[in-house]
Amino acid sequence: MKKTYYITTPIYYPSGKLHLGHCYTTVYCDSVARYKRMQGYDVRYLTGTDEHGQKIADVAEKLGMTPKSFVDGHVREIKDLWYLLNINYDYYIRTTDKKHTEAVSKIFDKLYAQGDIYKSSYEGLYCTPCESFWTDTQAVGGKCPDCGREVKLAKEESYFFRLSKYQERIERLLTETDYLQPASRVNEMVNNFVKPGLTDLAVSRSTLKWGIPVSFDSGHVIYVWIDALSNYVSALGYTSEYDADYKKFWPADLHVTAKEIVRFHAIVWPAILMALGEPLPKKLFGHGWLLFSGDKMSKSQGNVLDPFILIDRYGADGAYTSEIMLTKINNDLVNDLGNLLSRTTAMTEQYFKGKIPKPADPTADDAALRALASALPKKIETAMDELQTAKALDEIFALIAAANKYIDVTMPWKLNKDGDSVRLGAVLYNLLEVLRYAAVTLSAFIPETAGKIFAKLGISADNDKLVTLASLKKFGALKTGRVRKGAAIFNRLNVEDELKALEKIAVEISAKAEAEQASEKNKLPEGVISIDDFFKVQLRIGKVLDCVPVPKSEKLLKLTVADGEGTARVIVSGIAKYYTPEEITGKDIVFAANLKPVKLCGIESNGMILCADSADGVTLIRPERATAAGSEVR
Ligand code: MSP
Repeated sequence: MKKTYYITTPIYYPSGKLHLGHCYTTVYCDSVARYKRMQGYDVRYLTGTDEHGQKIADVAEKLGMTPKSFVDGHVREIKDLWYLLNINYDYYIRTTDKKHTEAVSKIFDKLYAQGDIYKSSYEGLYCTPCESFWTDTQAVGGKCPDCGREVKLAKEESYFFRLSKYQERIERLLTETDYLQPASRVNEMVNNFVKPGLTDLAVSRSTLKWGIPVSFDSGHVIYVWIDALSNYVSALGYTSEYDADYKKFWPADLHVTAKEIVRFHAIVWPAILMALGEPLPKKLFGHGWLLFSGDKMSKSQGNVLDPFILIDRYGADGAYTSEIMLTKINNDLVNDLGNLLSRTTAMTEQYFKGKIPKPADPTADDAALRALASALPKKIETAMDELQTAKALDEIFALIAAANKYIDVTMPWKLNKDGDSVRLGAVLYNLLEVLRYAAVTLSAFIPETAGKIFAKLGISADNDKLVTLASLKKFGALKTGRVRKGAAIFNRLNVEDELKALEKIAVEISAKAEAEQASEKNKLPEGVISIDDFFKVQLRIGKVLDCVPVPKSEKLLKLTVADGEGTARVIVSGIAKYYTPEEITGKDIVFAANLKPVKLCGIESNGMILCADSADGVTLIRPERATAAGSEVR
C-alpha cells in the first residue's frame, strides 16, 4: 500500500470574496500536495468553508437571503477561484454538509457525556465581528487583538470545553515535539497562552441561530471552534460508519494556517483530540501574512486585490505584490525560463530539425551544469521537507540561470559555424535535459507552465515516465523526441503600463465600492420614496372636451381631454357612479400623463384622472383657479 499524506488548509469564511491572502495558503498547500503526489504518496488534500456564525447570518439578512443560499453563492465562487488557480484539492468540506454537522453533534455529545464539556456562564470582553471573548490582558486598550475593533463586556450562559485540563499535555506537545512549525511560533504560544494558564473555552452560544444545535439543549448552538476544527476529521468520515478515509488518512500530516489562528490549531484542536482519545496531527505550519503596503491583506482593510483580476491578467502561475510580481514575472519567467526555453528549442529546430541530439563525453562546463541538475531533486526534497516552498523554487531558478550562462559560454551558434556538430549536439542535449529537470520539478508549483515545457520537448505530460521525479535519478534519461519551438510561453510585461492599469482597476473598484456604500447609506425606509421617484410621475392639468359613458359598463366614462400638446387624449375613468358625463364636460382636471396606455372595455386609456376618496364616494381634484391645459402639477 502507498504511504498516505493528508494536508489541509483552514476552512475559509464565505462571508465575502476571498483575496490573495487566502490564495497564498491554498496555493502553498497545493504545491506541497503536488510534490507529495510526485513522490508517490497517496495524497488527500482538503480545503473547504466555515459557513456558520453570526457574521454570515448578519450579511445574509442584510441582503434578504437565507444564510445557506448566501454561502452557496460564495462557495461556487470560491470553487471557481480554485479552478482558475489550478488547485488540485481532493475534497471540499462545507460545515453545512450533513456529514460534518452529524460528526460535530456526536463529538459535542461525547465530550459532554464524559465531562469534558460542561454548562456555566461566561462574562468577558467580546468582539462581535470576530465572535471571540477576550481577557483584559488580551484586549489591550479595549481593542480586539485580532481585528483591532472595540470589544464590549458581555455575559452569557454557555457550554465550556475543559481546555484547562489539558494544560500539561499541550505544553509538552509544544515544547517537546516539533508539532508546531516554524519553531519561532512556539514561544509565542507557550508564553502568551499556555504559561499564563489555559482557560476553559466557551463552545456554545445562546444568542446564535445559524449553527449546529446542541442536541440535548435547544437553547444553544455549537459555535466556532468545535464546529470549525472538526472539519479536518469530519471530512474523512469520522464518527460515521463510512470512516475508511479516517482510518486511512488520520492523523493529518500537515495543517497549514496563517499565524492568527495558530492558537486554535496549536492548543484547542490537539486538546479536543486528546479528549476524544484520537491521534494528534503530525505537524502544524503557521505561515506569516501576505502584506500589502505593510498591512495584513484583509477584506476589512480594503487593501484587497481581486485574485480573479490578477489571474485574468497574468495567469495562475504567479505570486503577488504589484511591482515585485511584475518584475518577478519578467525576470524569472520571461527572461530566465522563457529565454532558456526559446533559445534551446529554436537552436534544436534550426540545427537538428527538432530531433533531440546525442549526448557526448562531458567537458568541465558540461559536468558542472549536469552536477547542478543532478543535485536539484535532493535539494528540493530537503526544502520541501522543511516546508520551504520558496527555497525549492530558488533552487530550480538557480539551475535555469546556470543553463543560460552555459549557453553564453558554449556559444552553440559558433559551434555550428565551425561545423562542430558533435559538440553542438552535446551542448543542446544538456540544455534540453536541464529544461526537463526544470519542468519536472516546476510541476509542483506552476503545473500549467511545466506542461507547456514538456509539450515543447515532445514529452506527453500525462503519463510519460520522463515527467516523474524518479526519472531525475540519473542525468540523461531524455532520449528520443521531437522538439518544437512554437510560440513563446511568456510575454514580457511593461511594468509601467501594468502598474497604471492595476491602479486604474483599483480606482474603479474603490469608486464602485464607495458608490455601493453611499447607496446603502441612502437607502430609504420601507414605503418612503425620494423626490426623484415622485417626479417620475408627470401630473398635468387637462380640460375635458367631451365625456360619454362606456357602453356595457356601469363604472367607466370615456373622457376626451385637451392635454396642452395639441392632441385630444382619451382617458377612461372609473367614476361613472359619482359623476354624470354632463357634470364633467368642460371641467379642468388633473391627470397622470406618462402612464403606460391600457385597454379598458376595448378602449385605449392614456392616463389617469386624479380623484380623492370622499364621504360620498370620490371627488375630482381640480385646479383652484383657471389653469391652462398642459400645465405641470408639482
Ligand atoms: N474560518 C476560520 C478558519 C477555521 S480553520 C478550522 C478563518 N477563516 S478566514 O477566512 O479568515 O481564513 C483565514 C486564513 O486565510 C488564514 O489563516 C490564512 O490561511 C488565510 N489568509 C487570510 N489572509 C491572509 C493574509 N493576508 N496572508 C496570508 N494568509 C492569509 O479564519
